[in-house]
Amino acid sequence: MEYIHSKDIFYLLRDTLKLFDRRPIVHGGKVAYYVYMMLQQKNRLGQRVQYENFELADIVYFTTFHDIGAYKTDDMEQMIRFETKNHRDHSLYGRLFLEKMSTVGDLAEVILFHHTDYAALAKLEFAQSELASLINLAEAIDIYKESLGGKFSLDIFKKNVGTKFSPEAFDLFCKANQEHNLFEKINSRAYLQEINELMDFFILTNEEKEKSLELIMFTLALKSNIMINNAAVCVALCEKLGLLMKLDAVQRKNLLYAAYIHDIGYMAFRKEWLESPPDLSTIYLEKLAQHTLLMEQLLKDRMKRDIVIIAATHHERVDGKGYPRRMTEKQMNLSQLILQFADAAAVMMKPPVNKESIINKVKRQTESGGFSTAVSKVFTEKFDEIAKYTEERSNEILSNFNKLNEQYKSIKETDG
Ligand SMILES: [Fe+2]
Ligand SMILES: [Fe+2]
Ligand SMILES: [Fe+2]
Repeated sequence: MEYIHSKDIFYLLRDTLKLFDRRPIVHGGKVAYYVYMMLQQKNRLGQRVQYENFELADIVYFTTFHDIGAYKTDDMEQMIRFETKNHRDHSLYGRLFLEKMSTVGDLAEVILFHHTDYAALAKLEFAQSELASLINLAEAIDIYKESLGGKFSLDIFKKNVGTKFSPEAFDLFCKANQEHNLFEKINSRAYLQEINELMDFFILTNEEKEKSLELIMFTLALKSNIMINNAAVCVALCEKLGLLMKLDAVQRKNLLYAAYIHDIGYMAFRKEWLESPPDLSTIYLEKLAQHTLLMEQLLKDRMKRDIVIIAATHHERVDGKGYPRRMTEKQMNLSQLILQFADAAAVMMKPPVNKESIINKVKRQTESGGFSTAVSKVFTEKFDEIAKYTEERSNEILSNFNKLNEQYKSIKETDG
């Protein structure tokens, strides 16, 4: 049995980002639909089919997330501004983020040019310039249609066709719109069903799925770097404890996947709360409980139940004082107990690591009924080995992300 279908990776990534802010993703979805319809039009007009369904599905996946960089670089309230004027930052960050963290491969380069005018693009000798020019037009159509409402007409683009916008893209869009009434499909939301049908052709290998789950974890980094450092340590701890406690290969994979996605509900949280949690006021505690429930909702019917169960109980405690369901040790399996432990211990493992103080904390929390005795016994007995693995492995997990941030910084500095 597959633990998650490729199509559900698409929906999981989409809905995780929506928790952060819906706007770039709703916009991305409409742009992806327009591009899909333009390419289908091209298929119909040509002598032969140029884009097979699986290629179109890849393009829709990628295009839906074309503004992902904006989560890091821009204020969503200013979406019109970063989409029409200051587009350099999110184009650059989005390109680096997708290139290093996702499975889209060469397509990532397109993000860099999704706001580049057609005339400038034509001079670049960029292999994917056609796709960039389609996104560029589709993107402008969506932004202007949303802001002008009833006053919107395709005529407003005509004077810029040939300079700002590709004539071929404009022609394909007009024809597709005449034949399929694209705006009506958008207004009635019927386009979502068409995208859904196409995404049956979206196929990821097992390695690509695993990388995509890691990518979903890294969306937390678009919100806060502190969160992602802890998450990487938590993943490493789960891997090591799973091995030391003799989980079998399938159980270890389930635990790993649960570790990747267990905190995605935090995407709905305020950044300040993630970086310095407020006093444990009732409102904050209620919200905290929500992050596990939100994650469960996103995963339900999408991911294998064994994995969802591990992720859903990561804040339960053996004495029944955890949340959200106040389960007790007897109701949970070893993988669940490991993730609970790893999630809490990850925060303690922040460098510089003080062995004595960590072991004391773990012992105290175990005696008071927080952690599983079996898990904390292995952790304390094998502390040195675990700490060494955790440090190396978490650095490895973070290395691509750190590299892309350095690259972004240095390009920005060179640009002045
Ligand atoms: Fe953009
Ligand atoms: Fe956009
Ligand atoms: Fe959590």
